Amino acid sequence: MRMIKWENGSVITPDQTKLPLEEITLKLFTVEQMAEAIKTLRVRGAPLLGAAAAFGIALGAYTSNAQTLSELLADLEAAGTTIKKQRPTAINLFWATDRVLNMARAYRGHVEGLRIAVIEEAQKIADEDAAQNYAIGKNGSTLIKDGDTILTHCNAGELATVEYGTALGVIRAAWEAGKKIKVIADETRPLLQGARLTTFELQRDGIPVTLITDNMAGYVMSKGLIDKVIVGADRIVQDAVFNKIGTYSVAILAHEHHIPFYVAAPKSTFDLTCKAAEVTVEERKPDEVTHVGCQQTAPNGINVLNPAFDATPLKYVTGIITETAIYTKEHFTKFNPTFPL
Ligand code: MRU
Repeated sequence: MRMIKWENGSVITPDQTKLPLEEITLKLFTVEQMAEAIKTLRVRGAPLLGAAAAFGIALGAYTSNAQTLSELLADLEAAGTTIKKQRPTAINLFWATDRVLNMARAYRGHVEGLRIAVIEEAQKIADEDAAQNYAIGKNGSTLIKDGDTILTHCNAGELATVEYGTALGVIRAAWEAGKKIKVIADETRPLLQGARLTTFELQRDGIPVTLITDNMAGYVMSKGLIDKVIVGADRIVQDAVFNKIGTYSVAILAHEHHIPFYVAAPKSTFDLTCKAAEVTVEERKPDEVTHVGCQQTAPNGINVLNPAFDATPLKYVTGIITETAIYTKEHFTKFNPTFPL
């Protein structure tokens, strides 16, 4: 199922903050509405953020009153600046924004032609993401054995992508190939993407899934209940994989228990120009930690840390499953800007 669609000058996508209790469809008409949806995680997950960013600029093109190419380009640049300000860590947001803007900057033709070209480029980014996820699933499913139990963290499913998912794409592909697998989903505090979204998707698809709190991951591994870990990624740099906060702890636990730890991500999530220390980790509002939903669970005025992502050093990663290949430890030593991905 498509998680994001262009429909007559609007963008249609589910409001992920309401799932699993309410299935509400958002209809976005402006760059500002898309920016708000990104900021508040109504639209979330690195690959979906890429498509959302591109469609956000398409909304900018559609709503612009520009009469000339240079006026339209100025409006698109402003849309790009607004979109990029919303979340700093997932590289797909920046990659897709730059891809659309670079196309627009190079465009030579009529203003109406550019408007159409921007919408078409956004659609292309979405279509490519969907195709890449099926390829990731196909590649990754070769690693999964009949009877495996797989632990995943956060939501790297259909809801985090344009279609099918990355980590859950691998799980889906293995399931569709007839392998009798089971999934253990970490709830993923503070925003509960695992509890709310991963279990929702897998239960709907009939794939056996068991929910645990994040602090139970060590227990289930120590009891021999996990065969593999598969997670998604928000940015893969020269020395680490950025993903939802808590991924690093899961990777260390997997290492300690000799459990393979795989990352599934499209190449649009790679940013081999930098190292982990150079990446900005999004710091979110304290009330996500002091509250569970609307219920306050901590004293008034308490100091809070709320980083949304962490970096897992590549030494803890058994392999990275992409749309074209599975990169393993021997490839990581070559990770640099010229690494031939
Ligand atoms: O803050 P979120 O919900 O956007 O974070 C999402 C994740 O960390 C996912 O694991 C990641 O984007 C991979 S999605 C295929």
